[in-house]
Amino acid sequence: MELRVAKTAGFCFGVKRAVEKVYKQLARKKGEKIYTYGPIIHNEEVIKDMQQRGVTVLRTEEELDAVTEGTVIIRSHGVEKRIYDKLEAKHLSVVDATCPFVKKIHTIVKKESGQGHFIVIIGNPNHPEVQGIRGWAGKDAAIVQNAEDIPTLSINPEKKVCIVAQTTFNYNKFQDLVEIISEKSYDIVVLNTICNATKERQTEARSIAEQVDAMIVIGDKHSSNTQKLFEICADACKDTYYIQTLDDLNLNQLGSVETVGITAGASTPNNIIEEVQNNVRVIF
Ligand code: F3S
Repeated sequence: MELRVAKTAGFCFGVKRAVEKVYKQLARKKGEKIYTYGPIIHNEEVIKDMQQRGVTVLRTEEELDAVTEGTVIIRSHGVEKRIYDKLEAKHLSVVDATCPFVKKIHTIVKKESGQGHFIVIIGNPNHPEVQGIRGWAGKDAAIVQNAEDIPTLSINPEKKVCIVAQTTFNYNKFQDLVEIISEKSYDIVVLNTICNATKERQTEARSIAEQVDAMIVIGDKHSSNTQKLFEICADACKDTYYIQTLDDLNLNQLGSVETVGITAGASTPNNIIEEVQNNVRVIF
């Protein structure tokens, strides 16, 4: 009998780095106030653990305004430049856990904007990462999520246009949107800022699911990337189980299978993956 665990299961590089920064601050600054601006990841188990150790999650800008001392950790999605300015003006200690791939987009957008170029961000306007990126561009910027948004763009034809993408945007859709914008014959520079972590995780999950008798997908029920992983695996393997923790898994269901695969969403911590893995191993 064989158990195959996806190498890409669980935290991506940026999420892992952000979570580690929180625990490092907790260890270094015992007794001091530590805040995260927004929940550091979309996993209630992890947030609960951090809160129990003394971290306060600031959920709104008003809550941030009320902070007078301590350390504020900026989460992996990043924030607008305005927020950095605010934190500096308040003389708060800042730990920047913005994913370096997101930070790179901030730098690009700031530079291109400074050169007088129009910035087009391809992404979801309601996502904090996209709002953060928008906050590094000047007035001449727009967010495009769908083809319908393109006719509403009002760009001075003399201006150069710089296009960037939300890190988790679908690559094919990005290409389609860039093509439509290109038809408008602007002077365009396209920077593909999509991060490969999500795609690699999905590709590996499908490949494992195709080769096993049963597949286990671990992640928060509200995590959209875990839901997507489940759909991909269920499509390739009819015995696919979606669990949040080991408690949701009925090990008897796996009694008669020969091979089992395991993957997990980007916000699933390693200890939950390991616990499932160890318990599945026991029945083999
Ligand atoms: Fe993760 Fe950073 Fe990519 S947070 S998905 S490694 S952009």
